[in-house]
Amino acid sequence: MNLEEKLQYYRKRKKIVPSRNMIKTAAQIEGIRKAGQINGQVLDAVDQIIKPGISTEEINRVVHETTIRLGGTPATLGFEGYPKSVCTSVNDVICHGIPSEDQILMEGDIINVDATTIVDGYYGDASRMYCIGQVSEQAEKLVRVTKECLDLSLKEVKPESFLGNIGAVIQAHARANGFSVVADICGHGVGVGFHEKPYVCHVGKRNTGMMLFPGMIFTIEPMINAGRQDWFVDEDDGWTIYTDDGSLSAQWEYTILVTETGYEILSK
Ligand code: MF3
Ligand code: CO
Ligand code: CO
Repeated sequence: MNLEEKLQYYRKRKKIVPSRNMIKTAAQIEGIRKAGQINGQVLDAVDQIIKPGISTEEINRVVHETTIRLGGTPATLGFEGYPKSVCTSVNDVICHGIPSEDQILMEGDIINVDATTIVDGYYGDASRMYCIGQVSEQAEKLVRVTKECLDLSLKEVKPESFLGNIGAVIQAHARANGFSVVADICGHGVGVGFHEKPYVCHVGKRNTGMMLFPGMIFTIEPMINAGRQDWFVDEDDGWTIYTDDGSLSAQWEYTILVTETGYEILSK
């Protein structure tokens, strides 16, 4: 069966299958691969400068300048009013932390740096965690287990698999380690736009949700909390998302392409 026939086959059997625009063309994949590579190089530049004593605004400067130097545009700057070129989420911030000159990284902090780069109109989106100096055993474990959740979920990314399998694997590994998964902030299709369909939920049941087919591109970006999964948004800035119970939170994010045989990481 060719792709059209397969989609038809599963549609008839009441499976959720991607619509045509969720399957990228070869030219789009090439463009998104390039944007993803450059986005990875932007994060590599952060690897080089991050240390105790720098401000999160310094990270923003490095991301902004590196992105421009490599021929890209930072996607977050001005996105729905977001004021900076990167998100920097420290300790109990789950995501969307705004860089600030006043926020100085201290020994023992954990931080997520989430960069999205536009190149020739295509998007790459990825984030990494950093441990600042020596961190607590719990913090180290949370950062490690969150990365494991993401890496384990990749084996579920292949043709005719289900989005629910990705969530199921992440949820099981987080739970087994005593952590909780933020259920209602999700990964997303990406590439031609910043946030596209489908939603990629980080909790789920096997063999449920949308089926995967070659050419789909989406992020997987689990947010894992040391305590409860509940969160709230900072009322003053309207962006920063904190854990409700003040517990630590970690996140890693890749942009992933579904291939004929499995997956390709387009940005990490
Ligand atoms: N990069 C984030 C994501 O993974 C989105 C950040 S949007 C912003 O989807 F406006 F908060 F920057
Ligand atoms: Co991101
Ligand atoms: Co994303």
